[in-house]
Amino acid sequence: MNKNYFQSFLLRTSIPSLYHKVKQKAISQSYLIKMSKKVLKLNIYLYIISLYGIKNNMILNKNNREYFQNWYLKLSKDDKRLGTKRTKQDVEFIKKVLKLPKNSRILDLCCGHGRHSILLAKQYSITGLDINKEALGIFKKNIKNKKFKINLIESDMREIPFKEKFDAVLNMYTSFGYFEKDKDNLKVLKSINKSLKLNGKLILDLRNKRPYHKKVLPKYWMKLKNNYILMENDYNDKKNQEEVKLIIIDNKGRILKTNFFVKSYTVSEIKKLLNKAGFSIIKKYGSTENTDIYTKKSERLIILAEKKRRIN
Ligand SMILES: C[S@@+](CC[C@H](N)C(=O)[O-])C[C@H]1O[C@@H](n2cnc3c(N)ncnc32)[C@H](O)[C@@H]1O
Repeated sequence: MNKNYFQSFLLRTSIPSLYHKVKQKAISQSYLIKMSKKVLKLNIYLYIISLYGIKNNMILNKNNREYFQNWYLKLSKDDKRLGTKRTKQDVEFIKKVLKLPKNSRILDLCCGHGRHSILLAKQYSITGLDINKEALGIFKKNIKNKKFKINLIESDMREIPFKEKFDAVLNMYTSFGYFEKDKDNLKVLKSINKSLKLNGKLILDLRNKRPYHKKVLPKYWMKLKNNYILMENDYNDKKNQEEVKLIIIDNKGRILKTNFFVKSYTVSEIKKLLNKAGFSIIKKYGSTENTDIYTKKSERLIILAEKKRRIN
């Protein structure tokens, strides 16, 4: 078998870290062969397993609950996009864009383990809300000996238990569009509206739909510690949502399966939804870096909106 065969094999099976190296012809033939054999073995393994029973273990993952409860934190631990550098950049962006006085009240909606909240708490009065107990537990530990206080709430984002309390609400890192029915995603925006003071601000940090679809690989392997994870990315046109399926072979050889989805929005789609919930868009940004203005090619679609009216 020649080198080209293995190159195209690897390109097709798409291991992102090798994908670019193969393209640049920056790896040796023996390494290519070694990796190709590994990938082939895993694919066969998975195929056999899928014939005998993965279907029986199918998880019906409604509203992403199972994924965020059991997997999100584990799988995103080494994700650079959640690292300190990016978080600091996000926080500088939030401060610049909101221009709020000291001690203003901010709700970090879907706060996760609190990476933004903790940095913002030196200056503002922060409340963090998330549905995930484990994430909130880590958050609590991280602020144990800090001088500031953060109010932590375990709740669903559709049911924010505050009325006209906040000067701003943050929804960072694609934490919106987690419900199959649009009426539920609208319910989230309405709930944000109710929790905000009149003229209060919302930052909604979304993926930019079209460039994201072009960039994302349809299928690739990831290695996390001693676990192998097969990620399958799909865009469901009918439902207007990104769907990600994960098959995990853990370090004990067990096969586990999970999935999540995120609704995708163009500017006009999200604008409609925001207007229905009483918001007007003030400005759109393409990343948190240097407060870049949004273009169709931007990595993100970050919306700064304002509560213009009260809703029922
Ligand atoms: C992509 S993470 C982002 C976390 C955080 N904003 C960050 O940037 O690190 C999405 C978060 O939304 C939370 N979440 C998912 N569904 C939720 C729901 N229905 N209500 C509240 N939080 C939810 C998850 O537990 C998770 O922490």
